[in-house]
Amino acid sequence: MRKGRVEGKVIVVTGAAQGIGFACARMLAEEGASVVVADMREAEGEAAAARIESEGGKARFIRTDVASESDCCGLMDETARVFGRIDGLLNNAGWFPRGTLEETTTELWEKIQQVNLRGPFYCCKHAVRHLRAAGGGSILNVGSINGIQGLPNLVAYAAAKGGLLAMTRTLAGALAQDRIRVNYLIPGWVLTEGEVALHAKNGVTLEALTKAGESLALGRHQNAEDSAYAAVYLLSDESAQVSGAVLNVDAGGSTLPIQPGAPYVV
Ligand SMILES: NC(=O)c1ccc[n+]([C@@H]2O[C@H](COP(=O)([O-])OP(=O)(O)OC[C@H]3O[C@@H](n4cnc5c(N)ncnc54)[C@H](O)[C@@H]3O)[C@@H](O)[C@H]2O)c1
Repeated sequence: MRKGRVEGKVIVVTGAAQGIGFACARMLAEEGASVVVADMREAEGEAAAARIESEGGKARFIRTDVASESDCCGLMDETARVFGRIDGLLNNAGWFPRGTLEETTTELWEKIQQVNLRGPFYCCKHAVRHLRAAGGGSILNVGSINGIQGLPNLVAYAAAKGGLLAMTRTLAGALAQDRIRVNYLIPGWVLTEGEVALHAKNGVTLEALTKAGESLALGRHQNAEDSAYAAVYLLSDESAQVSGAVLNVDAGGSTLPIQPGAPYVV
């Protein structure tokens, strides 16, 4: 039964064409929000919004490359024009190619920062005037355990997600006077389309990845819906007094030492 935990809210979800972003957008719509599916891939984004609508939700696709400030500004203005307001922003779009220190070229470093750190900065910057106009709201940044704990082959990504955590804490303080909350969600290890494709490039099959889940804390991979439940909470009024928080949806994986040669290090 639909509980309406975000009934009437207008929520922008970046990177919502697939994976964690799609699961969040879909669950937010199920819970009564009007959602904007923002993604740089047009056909996939249109299809995601159409699927949510076919299931009875309210959704609209707006093509956005979060690395572009004018796209992010246009995304927020267009959302407010179409739906009349913005109550929530889920900064989910991300890109996570592997690379050790010496493998990471300046070009790769820049591209990773653009999507994972500069994108959320642009989206926050251009959402804030609309959130303020709505009397307050909630921003949720999708981070990673790499923002806190080291993995040797994710140097640029870790720097971006660590920066995003620092920005989350800074904005939580800076925007509190506007009744805007800002939080950080850690999804654990999720076998999304993006994650599976990345491992496939390195010759790691879905079967091997799935098997690796058995050795994780609590015995399985996290799934996109595990994160979506947390996102609904942090974008709803149930979390009205939660800001500057980090919510780990990783089965406690971050409490365990990194095992050299573990599958997620691939
Ligand atoms: N999958 C995991 O195990 C995992 C773990 C921790 C954190 N995360 C984070 O969760 C988020 C979602 O990851 P996912 O696994 O669902 O990824 P995914 O690759 O399956 O989906 C990412 C989506 O973001 C979109 N996107 C990428 N760059 C974009 C850009 N510049 N502008 C707009 N859209 C863009 C893609 O088109 C895609 O639809 C990312 O921020 C990622 O860093 C994922």
